[in-house]
Amino acid sequence: MSAPRLLTQSLLKLRLATRQTPSLIAQHVRCYSRPSSSSPALAGIVCTRSSRAQPARRLFSTSPAVSHGHVNPPKPGEELYVTFIDKEGAEHKVAVSKGDNLLDIAQANDLEMEGACGGSCACSTCHVIVTDQEYYEKMPEPEDDENDMLDLAFGLTETSRLGCQVIMTKELDGLKVKLPAMTRNLQASDFK
Ligand code: FES
Repeated sequence: MSAPRLLTQSLLKLRLATRQTPSLIAQHVRCYSRPSSSSPALAGIVCTRSSRAQPARRLFSTSPAVSHGHVNPPKPGEELYVTFIDKEGAEHKVAVSKGDNLLDIAQANDLEMEGACGGSCACSTCHVIVTDQEYYEKMPEPEDDENDMLDLAFGLTETSRLGCQVIMTKELDGLKVKLPAMTRNLQASDFK
């Protein structure tokens, strides 16, 4: 089978499988032949002299808006409150639902918490410092994985926790946590 035909068939399969637009597919597919104007699968893809496929038209954005932090809005009368103190010392009090974790809450409210590993307890970029010892003691003990990652956190304190591992409960209503001045983006995978 000729190279252009093989490419055409591959693109058609890829489009069916991913339902992506040709311009998105083009970012991932190298062009091994001249573009065929008669091929609908190649519509929108232009081969450049560098032989790398490019979108025919540059778009500002081709991906849908992504919302960060998946939290459930609290039901009326069931709100729990948590306050984040940002790096500048400003307080942000947020009404949350039972079961949400501090990483998701922070991200849903555009607070600066990176969460590099997506909440899988494999980094320390969601480090928070519980301001009140009493609240710290109400939390379940950190697991070994969390302690390992906390050891890598910048500015570790006696009441440090990983935000992704702190789940809001009724007992934690009124919790206050401070975001550290900086975080260290080391992940568990860096040590494999
Ligand atoms: S987001 Fe990586 S440990 Fe919490």
